[in-house]
Amino acid sequence: MCGIVGYIGNKKACPILIAGLSRLEYRGYDSAGISTIEKNDLSIMKDKGRVKNLSNLEGIDNLEGTIGIAHTRWATHGKPCKENSHPHQDNSKTFSIVHNGIIENYNELRTFLTEKGYTFYSETDTEVIPNLIHYYYSKDSQNDDLKFLRAVKNTCADLKGSFAIEAISKLYPNNMIVVRKDSPLVIGTCEDEKYLASDIPAILSYTKDFYLLDDLEFVVLTRNSAKFYNQDLEEITKDTQTIEWNMSSAEKDGFDDFMLKEINEQPTAIRETIGARISLNSKCQFDELSFTKDYLSSINKIYIVACGTAMHAGLSCKNAIEKLCKIPVEVDIASEFRYRSPIIDEKTLCIFISQSGETADTIAALKLSKESGAKTLAISNVIGSSITREADYSIYTHAGPEIAVASTKAYTSQVVLLNILAIYFAEILEVCDENLIINLKQNILELPKKVEEALKCTDIIKDFAKQIYLEKDMFFLGRGIDETVAREGSLKMKEISYIHSESYAAGELKHGPIALIENGITVISILTDENLVKKTISNIQEVITRGAKTLVITNQNIDKTMFDLVINLPKTSSFVSPILSIIPLQLLSYYISKEKGLDVDKPRNLAKSVTVE
Ligand code: AGP
Repeated sequence: MCGIVGYIGNKKACPILIAGLSRLEYRGYDSAGISTIEKNDLSIMKDKGRVKNLSNLEGIDNLEGTIGIAHTRWATHGKPCKENSHPHQDNSKTFSIVHNGIIENYNELRTFLTEKGYTFYSETDTEVIPNLIHYYYSKDSQNDDLKFLRAVKNTCADLKGSFAIEAISKLYPNNMIVVRKDSPLVIGTCEDEKYLASDIPAILSYTKDFYLLDDLEFVVLTRNSAKFYNQDLEEITKDTQTIEWNMSSAEKDGFDDFMLKEINEQPTAIRETIGARISLNSKCQFDELSFTKDYLSSINKIYIVACGTAMHAGLSCKNAIEKLCKIPVEVDIASEFRYRSPIIDEKTLCIFISQSGETADTIAALKLSKESGAKTLAISNVIGSSITREADYSIYTHAGPEIAVASTKAYTSQVVLLNILAIYFAEILEVCDENLIINLKQNILELPKKVEEALKCTDIIKDFAKQIYLEKDMFFLGRGIDETVAREGSLKMKEISYIHSESYAAGELKHGPIALIENGITVISILTDENLVKKTISNIQEVITRGAKTLVITNQNIDKTMFDLVINLPKTSSFVSPILSIIPLQLLSYYISKEKGLDVDKPRNLAKSVTVE
């Protein structure tokens, strides 16, 4: 999705803005641009394509300004082209702005402004914003320090939808105005400099101290101050938060791609996520949570709501929560949940999972649940992200920044954290056999080592990828918890290898999909539940008979001779087995993508945080 960067300080803004945009490239975009204040005039440079195109534009090296805004655009309204890319200016070229989000009522605002004599040069929803700022600025007869801020505030009052906006003006060469609503934006602060970005890694090399904005808080930045205002333009105070991520966690650290680095970081991410939350001798600890036995006993349903991989993490943990807590769990896709009138009341607990914490559908589903009286709990990887500010309770995975579009370490950390949460609830409720809890705790504590063990299949998987990378279709099969891993493996394959793949509950195959099995097709099966081994093997035999090439991921003792390749994994509790079974599948999609020469970290058409519906 779109990315925003901003700078105000004493250094040349342009190189800082370009470096920030490069760090946001992983979010997905199709054009890029910057605007700086040069000798009391606004300069704009933008182009279709990569940030590299922008940095090669003639004249860009001559920019001297020490205040500027920058943007990578992911087209929503209007095709990717120079005219539609940001920054946008008002007709008089007094104001430059960049915008992330969608202005839902831009058509009416465009008509209103056209009637007032304004002309539009792009197809975007964004172009109404600088012109509205100009409109309100011109109408304001008060000539005080807050005039620019008032114009931005009045503009925002007219906007329906989501936005993160940075605005600069040639009339205010020492000010930048910033505001957000339902769209991410953080402000990094040092003594004489302020940095802005859609997310923390883009500016982590400059500072670890950040202001995290709430919706419709307006900020006036100068080089050495940040003043915050509410919607009535009353000044409010805000503290900085220190972010513990280090810079190397946002760099490739010698790996070819972020995805490979992040796959290999899983032992650490899991270790950090477990932290001090569980031990064998005491009850599970969540300093952030204060659930009581009375409250949890009153709950008659838990919804887990998320999108994509985060939803798959939820699916993998449905069983653990149901078995340990004896509360029914429903797992839902956020974009469906919000429109299907789910039955929610004060006896419902809704858990929302989002690595970025900025996924528009998940945030909307959370708001709906709150309005319906449910308690809400957010699970995110990003401190202070929108979802955590909306929810009643928030807990974090400690996976470190995940840059590759394909989620890997966030998924396994989410599965760990949900299992720990299940234990935490179960220990409060006292409805579960203690041995089951102790056994699960033991297995969770052993996970980092076992993930290291599982990663040893890398070379075998790399070779297998070479044999199958030209395939057009693939199937992923599993039963029970293995079926949830089949879904996640299939999603990884589609998104970074562009191979059409389907995942099925193995027993469903003969009810239709088996018609698609033909000579040479690859079928990948996950087989970790000892009660279901024989059943799944029978299903695999059915596809072998029809000529399929088979890869089996298992922690069971099975006869290997009938399969083309078997990857053996360490044994673990079935509740956390997805954390190990997904590893060969992450590696397989990665190496197939590499064999095909694709851009692993930035697959086509995809964005890291999906901040629009
Ligand atoms: C995962 O590989 C995907 N890129 C995608 O499905 C992702 O998990 C989904 O968009 C949800 O993102 P979130 O966790 O940031 O909310």
